[in-house]
Amino acid sequence: MRGKALVLALVLGAALAFTAVAFAGNGGFAPETPHSPPAQSINESYKLVALLTGCILVLVEGALIWFIIRYRRRNRPRTQEGPQIHGATKLELFWTAVPVVILAVIVGFVLYKLPGIRDVPAAKAQGGPLVVRIDGHQFYWQFTYPNGAVSINEMHVPVNRVVQVDIHSQDVDHSWWIPQLQGKFDAIPGHPNHTWFKAEQLGTYRGQCGEFCGVYHAAMAASVVAEPKADYLAYIAAAQDPMTLGGREWRGVCAACHGLSGTGGYGPNIQANSTIVSPEGLRRLLLNGQNTLKPIDDYMPPVGKGWSDAQFNALITYIKAHVYKGTTSGG
Ligand code: CUA
Repeated sequence: MRGKALVLALVLGAALAFTAVAFAGNGGFAPETPHSPPAQSINESYKLVALLTGCILVLVEGALIWFIIRYRRRNRPRTQEGPQIHGATKLELFWTAVPVVILAVIVGFVLYKLPGIRDVPAAKAQGGPLVVRIDGHQFYWQFTYPNGAVSINEMHVPVNRVVQVDIHSQDVDHSWWIPQLQGKFDAIPGHPNHTWFKAEQLGTYRGQCGEFCGVYHAAMAASVVAEPKADYLAYIAAAQDPMTLGGREWRGVCAACHGLSGTGGYGPNIQANSTIVSPEGLRRLLLNGQNTLKPIDDYMPPVGKGWSDAQFNALITYIKAHVYKGTTSGG
């Protein structure tokens, strides 16, 4: 009876697992469909390793199951020893050589693909790569474009353009990861990283901070919007408007914890707090954070570390126009 229940539980469990896999996109097995050359190479390496290890799994588990059935005890006494066999030189050579060859194939393939993943292409026809600076912050991504424009959480790039990203962190370790475009690259304080991608299709590519970085790590999403060059140029020109920039900072940085209208969420209600309309007070708060030695309760990260004057000014302009509901004595 217990045996039957166990078998039933196993069969139901397997059915659930397979259904989940079938419902997930691309079988839930392969990585995201690549839309950038390095992501393509990563995808090919993944598939080669998956194919080889898949064959090994089937072979080894198949042999195991076959041996369990073929050489089961039957009605021999429990204490009876089987025939004692040792030494099979050919077989031993075979199972030593084959794994060496398989590993060599994997290493060779990955080393062959690696330069295409790692090295930023010269992109001479495009006048070199477009360089965008990324700053990881608790808990948002900041992008700075060649014209000095800044956007938050959403990076815009021209489609089919080689983009080099210089990845910085202003506080703790984060990890920049847009799976359809490139592998994961850590944002490490004091140690800038560089990588690249080339989005080959118009569209929005979603990603997520890949390194646990604090209470709002899970909410630290990022996206890359690949658009026609004219749209990209219009975007980074418009991004310099203080009200636009301030709105992005408010929604992407402050509102994550304090709510869209400042009435509180994870963080306290600040709608009527005069500090947010005091240029010096706000700057001091954003640069130093609050209660930074108590990393959970009442903790506010120094979200404005590394900000330019234009960024502070834009935020206060937006807050005065759209957020602050107190009396304006603080100036
Ligand atoms: Cu930033 Cu996790």
